[in-house]
Amino acid sequence: MRRVRRPIKQEINLPAPHINQVQVIASGERYRLVVCGRRWGKTVVGQIEIANAALDGKACWWVAPTYNMAEHVWRELKSASRDLPVTVSERLRRLDFPGGGWIAIKSAHTPDNLRGAGLDFVVLDEAAFMEPAIWPQIIRPMLLDKQGHALFLSSPHGKNWFWENFTRATTTPNWDRFQYTSYDNPLIDPAELDAIRLSTPDRIWQEEYMARFTDDSGQVFRGLAEATTAPLHAQPSGQRCVFGVDWGRENDYTAIVVMDAVTRHVLAYDHFNQVSWSLQRGRLRALYDRWQPSVIYAESNSIGAPNIEALQQEGLPIRPFATTAASKPALIEALALAIERREIALIPGQTLIDELANYRMERLPAGGYRYAAPSGLHDDLVIALALAYHATRYATPSISFA
Ligand SMILES: Nc1ncnc2c1ncn2[C@@H]1O[C@H](COP(=O)(O)OP(=O)(O)OP(=O)(O)O)[C@@H](O)[C@H]1O
Ligand SMILES: [Mg+2]
Repeated sequence: MRRVRRPIKQEINLPAPHINQVQVIASGERYRLVVCGRRWGKTVVGQIEIANAALDGKACWWVAPTYNMAEHVWRELKSASRDLPVTVSERLRRLDFPGGGWIAIKSAHTPDNLRGAGLDFVVLDEAAFMEPAIWPQIIRPMLLDKQGHALFLSSPHGKNWFWENFTRATTTPNWDRFQYTSYDNPLIDPAELDAIRLSTPDRIWQEEYMARFTDDSGQVFRGLAEATTAPLHAQPSGQRCVFGVDWGRENDYTAIVVMDAVTRHVLAYDHFNQVSWSLQRGRLRALYDRWQPSVIYAESNSIGAPNIEALQQEGLPIRPFATTAASKPALIEALALAIERREIALIPGQTLIDELANYRMERLPAGGYRYAAPSGLHDDLVIALALAYHATRYATPSISFA
């Protein structure tokens, strides 16, 4: 009996490029800048190109802004080449292809690792998040001897060096540029993006999904003056108030924001520091007696939990909110959206408005934002306001609207 031999599968396991990825691949320019919205397929198009270059005998680098992102691509490229007779070096994070081509994965976080021989091709993934010197001082010289090519893939990150190169690309020989929104990935359902838009502050939407370069000031809350329309000294009747509380630590303030759950007007705020925890709880209790909130949301991290427990035992309707890397951006972005859309009204008062105006966000290379006050400034009222707004949305108290 003749044994039938299955042919050995020898191909790279990557998807076929979508229609807009084909446009990028089809450009033969030496340096290509591709700025796209989230999930457009930047990393996939980079992987398709680098794998084809390595199969073609080229010496290639993949450069990522952080160690974790480099690790992620390393795992994906190993998996994509599993049916090929490649040699894998874990130590060098390098794949050697039959025919002499190779791919090494590098992290731009440690520029000392970015040394080596001449390159034919380099992919810089999320390039805008790399230090400005990486391209001109480290990568560009490595392309000299072999007249190597570079593919820059990124979402926008303010008007930094990447934006400058993008602006110049149309008039500079050997450069080409592309700009795509997240809608330009035909594999994404546009209705999904429409839904994200509804729940995303405009600045984030423009940058992350529409791939527009915005000013780099990082201001989180926009339209503050327009949102400052709540009357001073309002005193609603019935249990329709809610509180947001941020506990002070060391030199920080404890902040309390009182909001009307029906009109979503800020009614009052208070902040104080350097008093004992029992005095701080007493002050909260006094505000409780005055406003009779139906629910109080308070940060439960560190010192929050025992304070909340003590107040619960006194019978206050206080609930914990745990601030985490995931919950904080959602909390802050909901507040930013509410201010932008005038869904809440602020009262005049320099401390609250200043804290909101100074609050900053920093885009992270892997996506998402980190939120904080600039060093030396406070954000207690921002957090307390965000928690009060959260209370109006998520608490299901028995409010009497008498
Ligand atoms: N040509 C393609 N065929 C099939 N799926 C694709 C293709 N291009 C991208 N995808 C899929 O779309 C999603 C987004 O792709 P990818 O991670 O490359 O996008 P990205 O722009 O790098 O996203 P991020 O902004 O999150 O870094 C992934 O699930 C990926 O597998
Ligand atoms: Mg990516």
